[in-house]
Amino acid sequence: MHEKHAEYTDVNEILKGEHTGEKVCIRGWIHRTRNIGSMVFLNIRDPTGVVQVMASSDSVENYEEIKPLLLESSVEVCGEVAEDRRAPGGYEVRASGVNVIHAAGVFPIQEDHSVEHLLDNRHLWLRSTYMRDILTVRSTVFGAIHEYFRANGYKEFQSPILTPLACEGGSTLFPVDYFGDEVYLAQSWQLYAEAAIFSLGKIYTMAPSFRAEKSRTARHLTEYWHAETEAPWLEFDGLVELAEGMVCNVVKRVLENNREELERLRGGDMDYLLRVKSPFHRITYQEAIHKLNEAGLDIEYGDDFGAPHERELTDIYDKPVFVTHYPQEIKAFYMKRAPEDESKVLGFDLLVPHVGELIGGSQRETDIGAMESRLQGEGEDITRYGWFLDTRRYGSVPHSGFGLGVERLVTWLCSLEHIRDSIPFPRTPNRYRP
Ligand code: 4AD
Ligand code: MG
Repeated sequence: MHEKHAEYTDVNEILKGEHTGEKVCIRGWIHRTRNIGSMVFLNIRDPTGVVQVMASSDSVENYEEIKPLLLESSVEVCGEVAEDRRAPGGYEVRASGVNVIHAAGVFPIQEDHSVEHLLDNRHLWLRSTYMRDILTVRSTVFGAIHEYFRANGYKEFQSPILTPLACEGGSTLFPVDYFGDEVYLAQSWQLYAEAAIFSLGKIYTMAPSFRAEKSRTARHLTEYWHAETEAPWLEFDGLVELAEGMVCNVVKRVLENNREELERLRGGDMDYLLRVKSPFHRITYQEAIHKLNEAGLDIEYGDDFGAPHERELTDIYDKPVFVTHYPQEIKAFYMKRAPEDESKVLGFDLLVPHVGELIGGSQRETDIGAMESRLQGEGEDITRYGWFLDTRRYGSVPHSGFGLGVERLVTWLCSLEHIRDSIPFPRTPNRYRP
């Protein structure tokens, strides 16, 4: 067995041809293994890629130990890098020493498994190239959102997860027994954020939100990461620009940093993402209804969009589309009524292919009476909103904000069939394990 080495080479450097002809040491896991005569080919995976290793009974002294190794055994390998067209990725490490760190048992995931089996073994499925690619993109997305807000002077602000209030209506609340009282897992950071802007100014967060969504769709989770922002003095047009700028920054960063992952995940289809630049399309709800009727869909003014409607709208447009000025009855109590037509709100949804609604945002209602009557109309007990209504009693100012579902963003960017693959350990109505 060879000596331990202080320096290890990342597999992707080998695959870029940076070490051809050199002796390197790598460490990782056996992704695939094949025996041919007196040689064994090990595909070794590290967090940066997979490279083929060739070991023979002549080249390594512990050949009999490594020949029977099973998938996911961990090893260190030293050897010379050679260009080899037959090897996946075009390079091979010809081993002079293999150090077995741990000989794995039979790995529960082999080839061709059902979706349920992969979900039950999610902790192991994370090791697949597919999940590694998605989670790598996801990491870039989180970084790009923080970067965008901070670069624009937004401070990061945290709200409680346990809360007595509903922000997005009672039907999707998760109750928690709080020493005999009932509280809920937060649906949104917004109400607390509206109090904090009077102190901090422009703020944002990225935190878990919870929705007891019984709808088992390919774009709903019960626990998701919510990127939210709120800013004083910001009005509707500025809000739309802020949302557009944020999405453009995320797309720019993932294209810069994760081009290979995206090409694999999207089957090479990059055209739409490459078009994601300002300005996006912008239509009113009324125009959207008209377009949908023209396309033969059955929907009337006043109806909320369902998945088929959003899909149709994102098919019509070649870039993300803002739908604005919804009728107030189908939107939340905090949205400001449009001054030119009080039956509509200064709110938007940003629609993208694959997932539909990616962002929901609005200018906020500042008329306390209007807000109270909306809450009462929805059957809420307004005494519970006392502290929140103080934001309209002491130095109220125009302000706006939005919320983006980070998993929907990742699902769209990676073109995933189901939102559950955009988060490491998904929570859906029928799954909370592992
Ligand atoms: O449209 P929503 O319900 O808006 C709010 O919560 C506002 N309080 C946000 C704000 O203005 N600060 O949710 C915002 C976004 C949606 O556009 C969607 O992307 C995502 O959150 N979302 C979900 N993502 C995954 N699973 C779910 N069950 C989701 N529900 C909402
Ligand atoms: Mg919404």
